Amino acid sequence: MQKIISAFILGVFILIPSVSFAHGNNESKPAILVVSFGTSLPDARQAINNLVYNVKNEFPGSEVRLAFTSNIIRRKILKEHGESIPNPSQALAQLNDEGYTHVTIVPTHMIPGEEFDEVCEVASAFGSMSGKFGFESVNVCSPFLNGVKGCESVAEILMKRFESQLKDKETGIILMGHGTPEHFANAQYLQLQLALNQRAYGRFFIGTVESAPSINDVMAELKRNPGIKKLILSPLMIVAGDHAQNDLAGKDDPDSWLNILKSNGWKNIDTYLVGLGEDKNMAHELLRKIHALNESEDSK
Ligand code: CO
Repeated sequence: MQKIISAFILGVFILIPSVSFAHGNNESKPAILVVSFGTSLPDARQAINNLVYNVKNEFPGSEVRLAFTSNIIRRKILKEHGESIPNPSQALAQLNDEGYTHVTIVPTHMIPGEEFDEVCEVASAFGSMSGKFGFESVNVCSPFLNGVKGCESVAEILMKRFESQLKDKETGIILMGHGTPEHFANAQYLQLQLALNQRAYGRFFIGTVESAPSINDVMAELKRNPGIKKLILSPLMIVAGDHAQNDLAGKDDPDSWLNILKSNGWKNIDTYLVGLGEDKNMAHELLRKIHALNESEDSK
C-alpha cells in the first residue's frame, strides 16, 4: 500500500509541473488526432499505420495520436494483443491533460455518415469547453467522400490506382464500399460513381456491404455493359479488413461477392485486397485536407 501511495505522490509531482507549465505560459501546443474505425487484423492495420506515418512526417511540430471509434475492435485488440487504443474522447482528454492547446481531428472515414457524426459530437463537446479542461481550438477535417470535390479527388486517385487494369477494355473494377442504410451520406457512393463514369464510363462498379447500391445492383449494371469479361474485386475502404477478406472475397462464404458472382456465371475474377489507406495518393489527399483546414482556420 505504501508503495502505491508513494507512486501516486510521485505521479502528482511529475504531472503538476508539466500541466502548469503549458497553461501558465499560454504556450501553443498543437496536436493531430487521427481517428479510424479501427481493425483487429494486424495486416490490415498497415493501412492505418501508413496514414499516421504520413501525418507525422508532414507535421513534425505536432503531436500525432491515433484513436479508434469501434469499441468492439478496441476491446478485442486489448484482450488479444495487450494494446490499449483510446476512443476519441479518451484521446482528447489525454491530450488536454498533457497540455496540448490546439487539436486537429483527422477522421479516416470514407463518407460523412454516422461514425463521422459521432466524432463531430465529441469534437464539439470538447470545443465548447472553456477553462483548464478545454482546448483553445478543436477542428475536424472532412472525410474523403465529402461533396462533389471530395468525390472528384477520390475518382482521380482510383483512376491512378487501377491505371494498368483499365488499359484492358474487358476489365471491370468492382469496388465494395461499406454503406450506411439510414444516413443521407450514403448518396456519396453515387456521387463517386458519377465522377468515375465521367472518367472511365462502364469500367467501375460501386456496391456496398450494408446498403445501396447492393451486389445485385452491381450485377444489373454489369449486364448493361456486355463488353466486360473480367472482374477485379477491391475494397472502397481505408482498411482491407473483415469486410474485404470475408464479405468481398471470402472463398468459403457462399454469400461473398466473389461466390455470388461465380454462381452468376463469372469465371474470370481477380481480387485486389489492399486498403485505400495504403495508397500513397490517399495519404497525400489526407495531408492536403489537413493543410486546407489549417489555412481556412488561419484566415478566420
Ligand atoms: Co461493417
